[in-house]
Amino acid sequence: MTALKITDPYVHGYSDSESRRLGDQADTLAELLHSGTAYPAGSRVLEVGCGVGAQTVHLVESSPGARIVAVDVAEASLARARASVTARHPDALVSWHRADLRELPFADATFDHLFVCFVLEHLAAPSVALSGLRRLLRPGGSITVIEGDHGSAFFHPDSADARAVIDCQVRLQRADGGNALIGRELYPLLESAGYQRVRVRPRTVYADAGRPELVEGFTRNTFIAMIESVRERALAENLTDSETWARGVADLHRTTDPTGTFHYTFTKAHAHAP
Ligand SMILES: C[S@@+](CC[C@H](N)C(=O)[O-])C[C@H]1O[C@@H](n2cnc3c(N)ncnc32)[C@H](O)[C@@H]1O
Repeated sequence: MTALKITDPYVHGYSDSESRRLGDQADTLAELLHSGTAYPAGSRVLEVGCGVGAQTVHLVESSPGARIVAVDVAEASLARARASVTARHPDALVSWHRADLRELPFADATFDHLFVCFVLEHLAAPSVALSGLRRLLRPGGSITVIEGDHGSAFFHPDSADARAVIDCQVRLQRADGGNALIGRELYPLLESAGYQRVRVRPRTVYADAGRPELVEGFTRNTFIAMIESVRERALAENLTDSETWARGVADLHRTTDPTGTFHYTFTKAHAHAP
């Protein structure tokens, strides 16, 4: 057993609804998360943990001339990724590889840029992962890391029950060896993994009735859907009871009412190989 493991079971799973959730998340947040990320034509970009290609589509659109290599450990996700990216961009310069990010089959300094989005949160040893990935970058090459942090969620109307159901997700992910609060740790993680010139820029998504596309695409279809997906496990592991759970989820949905608001902050970090 190595020090670094993919969470098992993977807290979000690989279901159709999870694929849709990742797609909603990526499309709704594309501007917020991808602004400032564009790679020059001809540059070699590695996307680590591409999943169903939800972010790959936006990498292709922002950097049409870059040569993207997308890897994921899940074969089924890779197949979906290839199909969905090819459908939207038939000429996309993407190659797909099934591989574990702990042992990627690429020579040292193969890439100019690494892109890692919503992957570290699922790893038991993210610092080890980041150190291992560094060898793939040419000297001076860049890494971009994007993660969430469920501790950054606050909302109106506030509700202790809603906060408790969010905490169920955090505890389940921690039990799997992951960390749903990892956004706040990106700076020290990148520093300790040997990257230089680390810059972290928080990116807040804020949804109210004046931004119905964010209420639908983020609050409801991304965040609340993610929390609702762990109901069975939360009950099975006695983290909550069905009444408290129902109240908490109902209160989360109240934040999508015309008088509700929802805030969540993603962390986007950029750094360089020595
Ligand atoms: C939450 S998904 C994010 C997918 C994509 N980056 C996005 O933002 O939509 C996390 C992905 O990381 C992949 N993953 C987790 N551990 C991995 C590992 N050790 N090696 C390669 N991929 C891994 C999972 O299979 C999953 O597709």
